[in-house]
Amino acid sequence: MDELVPATAFRIADLAARQDEVVRIAEKRAIDRQHAKGKLTARERIGLLLDPGSFVELDQFARHRCAEFGMDANRPYGDGVVTGHGTVDGRQICVFSQDFSVFGGSMGEASGEKVLKVMDLAMSIGCPVVGINDSGGARIQEGVVSLAYYAELGRRNAHASGVIPQISMIMGPCAGGAVYAPAITDFTVMVEETSHMFVTGPDVVRAVTGERVTAQELGGAVVQSEIAGNAHHRAADEEDAIEWVQTLLAYLPANNLELPPEYADDTEAVVTPADLALDRLVPDSPNQTYDMAELVAALVDDGEYTEVHSAFAPNMICAFGRVQGRTVGVVANQPRHQAGVLDIDASEKAARFVRFCDAFGIPLLTLADVPGYLPGTDQERGGIIRRGAKLIYAYSEATVPKVTVVVRKAYGGGYAVMGSKHLGADVTMAWPTAEIAVMGAEGAVQVLHRRELAELPPQRRAAVHRRLTEEYRERHGGPYLAAERGYIDQVVTPSQTRLQVARALRTLRTKRQTLPAKKHGNIPL
Ligand code: HXC
Repeated sequence: MDELVPATAFRIADLAARQDEVVRIAEKRAIDRQHAKGKLTARERIGLLLDPGSFVELDQFARHRCAEFGMDANRPYGDGVVTGHGTVDGRQICVFSQDFSVFGGSMGEASGEKVLKVMDLAMSIGCPVVGINDSGGARIQEGVVSLAYYAELGRRNAHASGVIPQISMIMGPCAGGAVYAPAITDFTVMVEETSHMFVTGPDVVRAVTGERVTAQELGGAVVQSEIAGNAHHRAADEEDAIEWVQTLLAYLPANNLELPPEYADDTEAVVTPADLALDRLVPDSPNQTYDMAELVAALVDDGEYTEVHSAFAPNMICAFGRVQGRTVGVVANQPRHQAGVLDIDASEKAARFVRFCDAFGIPLLTLADVPGYLPGTDQERGGIIRRGAKLIYAYSEATVPKVTVVVRKAYGGGYAVMGSKHLGADVTMAWPTAEIAVMGAEGAVQVLHRRELAELPPQRRAAVHRRLTEEYRERHGGPYLAAERGYIDQVVTPSQTRLQVARALRTLRTKRQTLPAKKHGNIPL
């Protein structure tokens, strides 16, 4: 009887053989296929992302149960996705990484179950989840079963939204309905040349519309990061993409109930030469521009920050940085691009960022220099009313500490929207260079004194216009009318700003605010 039971040593050897099949043999094949396409394998990507030796793989023996199209003759272990957990810089995350070398990384029943399981684990332990996408989408042989898993994944992404940070890496194709799972996640990074995302690929586009377009033109990393805004970062290569994700994770809490990691505060408690340089940042002429990125760098620890969506709507900067060792989300108009105007893309970009920060307890630092909303038929027909409203909604709903600095222009709707007191900012500051008004002085005089100016002899018109503009600027153009009413708490010297912002954020650390209970709001979508 005894001799029919496999010996322990045999069973252990059998496990080793199976693991060899899952990891070494499959990996050799994966390396051949992936490297030929200039891509890393699913396991190599996990290896680079996680701390060495920290990866714990789940379900490595999962196999599909499909018998259609001769699938029963080919049942590889793992089923085209590697899932598990490990650490990044010592902090727990969950990860899934699609393996394009197995059924094109497509999602079927077994691989779907694996992804859902690791998502559920991330939710139950409260840690970020990183999904590495490289897939032909729904597994065609498995039919509706694979569609079911995409929908299940989308539901989990939605439920996890605002609870755990979700990051998507697009490292190859991501097509069809498969794009919607990454779209729901908080941040998406794409790799130049080797990745693309689209709802319908070039062949379908050609068949339906007759348009000839390449995969890169349709949904490559350049298009998605600059024009469509579906990618928050465009990486030069896979290593760059992984580094960006690691950097991003270092700013984020594990979940919505925890604080972001805190780093040592070695910032200077006195005005530094870099602070003094801020006194010269804003040029004398209102028509001259400057780089808002310099102010962002001056206000955050070590001048270090990480932009999200840097190539999309560059008239708005959204970035994570730290002030006295603690994460802040910076939202800033960039006068270098379109004078920092608010348009549809900038509004949506900032609104989503503000909502992310609010969901994860990250204080907001707003730097305003905004001439208002962009006029024009493109914007109006594109829905700037509904889409621009998102930013008002997001700021108003945000209960995290909110500190705003008006640097120069804060005109019209731009004043109201960019983290104003009226939308619930806790501390509002303005530089003496601030121009808080319904519109710029030139435009205001044109409207208010049009008739009077028209009646003047032409030779006197310019001089009177100049005088009226000066008077308007004097009375309405500065920060003092707003300060008089308490809309601005402090008018600060630029060189004092870093210290004042740090002090404000420190004061606000214990802020608690709750809004009326409701099922959920109805943000204009
Ligand atoms: C099963 C697939 C597959 C899929 C690729 N493969 N996609 N197997 N289901 N969806 C397999 C291929 O048969 C091939 O197998 C291997 O993966 C590599 O594919 P190639 O075509 O050789 O690679 P490449 O030339 O790089 O092209 C990649 C690709 C192309 C552009 C992704 O494979 C493709 O167009 N696939 C179909 C994409 C698609 O229409 N998916 C459905 C989307 S709808 P062998 O054995 O030859 O190596 C969807 C709905 C989600 O996802 C619903 C959400 C609600």
